[in-house]
Amino acid sequence: MKQRLLFLGPPGAGKGTQAQHLAESRGLLHLSTGDLLRGEVAAGTPLGQEAKTVMARGELVSDALVLAIVRSRLKQQAQAGGGGWLLDGFPRNVAQADALAALLEELGQQIELVVLMELDDAVLVQRLLARGRADDNESVIRHRLEVYRQQTEPLIAYYRERDLLAPVEAAGSVDAIAERIAAVIG
Ligand code: AP5
Repeated sequence: MKQRLLFLGPPGAGKGTQAQHLAESRGLLHLSTGDLLRGEVAAGTPLGQEAKTVMARGELVSDALVLAIVRSRLKQQAQAGGGGWLLDGFPRNVAQADALAALLEELGQQIELVVLMELDDAVLVQRLLARGRADDNESVIRHRLEVYRQQTEPLIAYYRERDLLAPVEAAGSVDAIAERIAAVIG
């Protein structure tokens, strides 16, 4: 079974839902940069204050800030003896992907698979409007989708060239999608 994984896909594709499920069932560390940032916002830390307005607009917070979070968590885990991990919502652009590659080289680790969750925009928007998180109103959702197309989608070619990409159809029930993901992870 592959156990160093990235979940890639547009907002609302179900990355968080599937990542949580998989991490629990397979004992992997689930690192969601979105959840970690929302935690900082809720705690009112300086980092959270910096991220709050950027997240509310549906834009990406600075690479340096996100990288600092991921670096400390992955280093902590490596020092505690390693193990599998699942990165959800990170990397979000090529600069973050390059920085992750450098960090993993430092840790002597490698990405084993990038699960790309694919879903039509109409279904994504419907799911997010039904959820109603602070950044789930229609204009911010549209902007998050644009940011995804411009900044995150280039990672599809990036990881395809590295022979790591596994596309998965993200329509249907949570269980059906989980089965498709399990099939590509092995
Ligand atoms: P982040 O938290 O990563 O949000 P996102 O990518 O927009 O993803 P979502 O959480 O909206 O969707 P998801 O694919 O995880 O789907 P989910 O499982 O939740 O990022 C938020 C913000 O933080 C960014 O805009 C940015 O500002 C900042 N940020 C985060 N990471 C960053 C980074 N690396 N660099 C810079 N900035 C960063 O499901 C969505 C909904 O659909 C839920 O209600 C769920 O219950 C439902 N659902 C899931 N699966 C199904 C299904 N099969 N059928 C029906 N409903 C379903």
